[in-house]
Amino acid sequence: MDKPLKIGIAGLGTVGAELARIINSKSNMLAERCGRALVLKSVCVRDRSKDRGIDPNSVEWFDDAVALATSDIDVYVELMGGDEGPALESVRAALKAGIHVVTANKALLAKHGVELAGLAENSGVLLNYEAAVAGGIPIIKVMRESLAGNDVTRVYGIMNGTCNYILTRMEDDGLSFEECLADAQRLGYAEADPAFDIEGDDTAHKLAILTSLSFGTKIAADEIYVEGITKITTEDIRAAKDLGYRIKLLGVACRTDSGIESRVHPTMVPLASPIAQISGVTNAVAIEADVVGSLMMSGPGAGGGATASAALGDIADIAKSRPGHQHGPALGRPAERLEPYVRAKMRQHEGGYFIRMSVFDRSGAMAAIATRMSEQDISLESIVQRRDTPRSEVKNTDLDAQTLILITHETHESAIRAALEAISKDGYLAAEPQMIRIEEMG
Ligand code: NAP
Ligand code: HSE
Repeated sequence: MDKPLKIGIAGLGTVGAELARIINSKSNMLAERCGRALVLKSVCVRDRSKDRGIDPNSVEWFDDAVALATSDIDVYVELMGGDEGPALESVRAALKAGIHVVTANKALLAKHGVELAGLAENSGVLLNYEAAVAGGIPIIKVMRESLAGNDVTRVYGIMNGTCNYILTRMEDDGLSFEECLADAQRLGYAEADPAFDIEGDDTAHKLAILTSLSFGTKIAADEIYVEGITKITTEDIRAAKDLGYRIKLLGVACRTDSGIESRVHPTMVPLASPIAQISGVTNAVAIEADVVGSLMMSGPGAGGGATASAALGDIADIAKSRPGHQHGPALGRPAERLEPYVRAKMRQHEGGYFIRMSVFDRSGAMAAIATRMSEQDISLESIVQRRDTPRSEVKNTDLDAQTLILITHETHESAIRAALEAISKDGYLAAEPQMIRIEEMG
């Protein structure tokens, strides 16, 4: 057997503590599968007094992640989080020192991934980040290795467990958004700052990484159009279901004639589609490519076990790699050959739309709305009228309001926005209109 692989972990929270526990409890099995022992040599946390579920005397403790990252270890595992500060400095330091890195930190990779991939290539070490995208689903390995002979045309999916958990429980159990978020936090799914989850940024970080792997471009998280789920109400969820749809927070990236369209937003997916069946913390990523056709992978997207499983797979790959072996580039292509990201404008997006409006019950309102839609050449697939607009949504409670739900045929986003602006100016709306994009499923 080869020499044991010495592992240093920075961060023993939801993910790190679970990873440490599995490395210790499955040591025999891991040694057999990797051809060498995996040894947890050292750790770094902020507060040493907390119980981490490991024997405190079995490891060396560090207060400084950079010191741990450059100590006598073979693999540095960064599980602290944050896109600057100790996470960035320690990963940089490890890679420069020729130490392999494993991280679950999508925020860090979305911001500094190209630089870090370049450092790994220069030092001839691995930068593995399976746990950073879609939790336990081995999507990075599939895109980087298994689909190497494919040109990807579209990648999309549910990439945030917290949001999918919230939307599922709002629909299934009728719970409020706040109650569902609190549960997701208690279960260890949410980010330290859950705004990253519910505002869509976490999905955008993951999509930015998948976009780079799919299209060979630099990672460009700032170029992604992002809308979170904070404005989704139980009314929307109910109306969607009545019309044969379910609302999911999707990340979608595809090539268009004017560049790459990368977007994160609540999306209407047909109730019968496979992605509509993905519930709770489960994630799913679908890939459409020229050789393989379409495939979809699903699995647990967040939580200690799922994420530790992915990180451990990355460590096992490092344990099995041989000194002097030329590693494949972290982003699938050499960092310096990644193309610039050319963004397609969101206003050019084409698709169907769900629009929910609270309309004052006045004569001429419906005719005015129909006129504004037709001025923009928008054709309607279905119209539903209801007298059950929630009072909380209505600006002027002296007037009766009714709910109007429209599903459009495929049209341009610029046309929808222009029509909604004109309808708002006409003064018939009792509340801000809700607009949710419909995604065509292959
Ligand atoms: P967490 O529970 O908040 O744990 C963070 C850990 O990092 C804690 O042990 C904390 O120490 C330690 N830490 C933070 N700042 C530090 C510093 N400056 N120096 C030393 N230690 C520091 O976070 P988590 O949920 O495990 O997530 C860790 C990473 O995995 C993040 O990048 C996250 O985005 C990613 N991730 C998480 C999940 C998930 O489901 N939770 C899934 C995929 C990816 P103390 O315990 O002493 O405070
Ligand atoms: N907060 C993230 C989520 C963790 O809910 O998906 C997994 O990346």
